[in-house]
Amino acid sequence: MSQLVITDNSLTTEEKYKNLLPQIASLVQKEDNFISSLANVTAALKQTFDKISWVGFYLFDGKKLYLGPFQGKIACASIEIGQGVCGKSAELKRSIVVPNVNEFPGHIFCDADSKSEIVIPLLKETNVLGVLDVDSTEYNSFNEIDELYLTEICNKLVKVIF
Ligand code: SME
Repeated sequence: MSQLVITDNSLTTEEKYKNLLPQIASLVQKEDNFISSLANVTAALKQTFDKISWVGFYLFDGKKLYLGPFQGKIACASIEIGQGVCGKSAELKRSIVVPNVNEFPGHIFCDADSKSEIVIPLLKETNVLGVLDVDSTEYNSFNEIDELYLTEICNKLVKVIF
């Protein structure tokens, strides 16, 4: 493995993402198995950010979202479209930042310690292929910087993998 994930905690969130992007580009190659690539992306994100307690993909099988590669505690195996933050993001085809999960109607608690969350849809044109779900055990862990860079990562994944 030539990739080195930067975990320097003196860096800002934006600097960490900027370091991570080229590494993700090299981790995600067309010829690789897509499950392997998604698995490595979850590992790279978890290694880079202490604030992330759980990170993973839910993939759309045409009916519902089912659990894909992830890092963290055991999670719900499937989520209906429209349910929870993940299902809502897939339904609306847009990112959702949740500063306090207790205030999100219908939030699905896979981990009772989860306090904030961000979900980014994997979109190929207007088709939802799945979502990237990122959780934190602190409130207000994610903002527009996370949304911007996680969206860039998801767009890259869709372009190369799907
Ligand atoms: N909280 C998510 C469910 C997935 S877990 O957080 C891993 C939701 O409300 O969709």
